[in-house]
Amino acid sequence: MKKIAVIPGDGIGKEVMDAAMLILEKLNLPFEYNFYEAGDEAQQKYGKALPDETLEACRESDAVLFGAAGETAADVIVRLRQELNTFANIRPAKALKGIKCLYPGLDIVIVRENTECLYRGFEFEFDGVTEAVRVITRQASERIARYAFELAKREGRRKVTALHKANVMKKTCGLFRDVCREIAAEYPDIEFNDYYIDAACMYLVMDPFRFDVIVTTNMFGDIVSDLAAGLVGGLGLAPSANVGERNAIFEPVHGAAFDIAGKGIANPTAMILTACMMLRHFGYLDEARRVEEAVERVIESGKTTPDLGRNLTTMKFANEVASLLD
Ligand code: NAI
Ligand code: MG
Repeated sequence: MKKIAVIPGDGIGKEVMDAAMLILEKLNLPFEYNFYEAGDEAQQKYGKALPDETLEACRESDAVLFGAAGETAADVIVRLRQELNTFANIRPAKALKGIKCLYPGLDIVIVRENTECLYRGFEFEFDGVTEAVRVITRQASERIARYAFELAKREGRRKVTALHKANVMKKTCGLFRDVCREIAAEYPDIEFNDYYIDAACMYLVMDPFRFDVIVTTNMFGDIVSDLAAGLVGGLGLAPSANVGERNAIFEPVHGAAFDIAGKGIANPTAMILTACMMLRHFGYLDEARRVEEAVERVIESGKTTPDLGRNLTTMKFANEVASLLD
């Protein structure tokens, strides 16, 4: 029995979680789901965006399945990644079959360092002057670079590209780039290169096929993963996994999307594919593939939520997917 801590959170987090749970329940796997609160609503109710009970349950779980938080995202999901030491954030940007998007056939993976950089939260203010401290360590850089190469090896990918801004942030990005180059030398069968983050953004938009696995620091990874999602159909389709030595957190790339929340029109695909990443993590490869194929078949048949041009509701879409799993 695997213990899954489920945190729907705020906004569309709740809506897409209902959809993903419908699919998961249908698979009838030996998972025990326990639901916990976190996010803006928890902040209002308990004065804490990440209540102690939720944090403890996440620590003790085999996996956390997370929807989205709103304005408290830094106190909830960024903190949770650090508390649980899930040091690698894996964000695939893969064009599903049947998707009308900028780059059909694209299949890249972003490996984002998840525990340090500007997202450590070391921010200070005094007398109209604000500061943020960017922490980059050799240890975390080595760990994430090695993770990226191991992922490339495991998935039969040909190339790893490191993104940084070492010409300006000479110490922090310089260390990250140097460590990536060192680790690359241990993997002679996998091609390696590195780009400055700004140029990489242009390459991603104009010629994304030059990338395969991207490894980068926390904030750059946050930004380029939304950019990459846009190349393959948008945030409604982008899943992610945060993995560490002991814990794992599975969450879509998107946030609470307050602009569409409450209307029941969010695309649950990102959350469903996120659940598939959790299935794979536990070795349920066939189940994950069946669900992914069902999602692709529904999208190919033109039944989509408004972000992809049609008018299905979140739950109608989920029901279509579920009906293919009988
Ligand atoms: P967002 O990711 O929530 O939404 C960005 C845009 O993508 C919006 O136009 C939204 O409608 C669209 N979108 C996102 N997911 C979608 C889906 N499943 N189906 C259809 N359209 C979708 O980012 P935004 O708007 O910048 O932030 C909204 C709130 O979410 C903020 O309070 C922010 O702090 C929070 N946030 C939380 C995150 C997390 O919990 N991991 C990550 C990003 C933002
Ligand atoms: Mg983000």
